[in-house]
Amino acid sequence: MKVLAINASARKDGNTAILLRTVLEVLQNDGIETELIQLAGNHLQGCIACMKCFERKNRRCAVDADILNSVLEKMEIADGIILGSPTYFSDVTANMRALIERCGYTARANDYMLKYKVGAGVVAVRRAGAIPAFSSINLFLHYMQMFIPGASYWNVGIGRNPGEVLNDAEGLGTMKTLGRNMAWLLKRIAAK
Ligand SMILES: Cc1cc2nc3c(=O)[nH]c(=O)nc-3n(C[C@H](O)[C@H](O)[C@H](O)COP(=O)(O)O)c2cc1C
Repeated sequence: MKVLAINASARKDGNTAILLRTVLEVLQNDGIETELIQLAGNHLQGCIACMKCFERKNRRCAVDADILNSVLEKMEIADGIILGSPTYFSDVTANMRALIERCGYTARANDYMLKYKVGAGVVAVRRAGAIPAFSSINLFLHYMQMFIPGASYWNVGIGRNPGEVLNDAEGLGTMKTLGRNMAWLLKRIAAK
């Protein structure tokens, strides 16, 4: 059983990475394999509406100039997916938006190839705008026919400079609850 976390921050190993690692640690302690991909340093193109994913139905995005297809391959074999983004202007980053658009259309064109996975969103924020970002991720997960576990609050951690989120005890606690609930759900789905 494996959970893949994707950090769409432009900053490697910042607050979003800390939040994601907090969730992953709980999953690892429950015997679940994990992997963290950090998109920093990559520029993901948004969907160009070429519709080739619907023509080809080959489980790949026709735009092959960036790492999107290699990320999508990893998403397809994972049992659980956590999408992490900092809040940029009260929404997700451009890379997360591009991932949502292209993975979303490719998955739709291929019988919702990500369906029945467990999915969760995680958001870092300095002050405000985290909920629209969290909603953007959750709207995507819902549309992809994934199962979304709850937590003890919305999955948001507060901090500006890298590492500041470690001062947000409640945010870190929420990530741990999310990890426990994700593990609970994954195991029940696997036992079906
Ligand atoms: C371009 C940009 C836009 C941002 N917009 C917001 C915002 O709308 N609201 C907010 O509270 N913080 C905003 N921030 C701050 C980040 O969300 C915050 O620093 C976060 O912890 C960064 O996470 P990271 O360390 O994973 O990159 C913005 C930062 C950048 C670089």
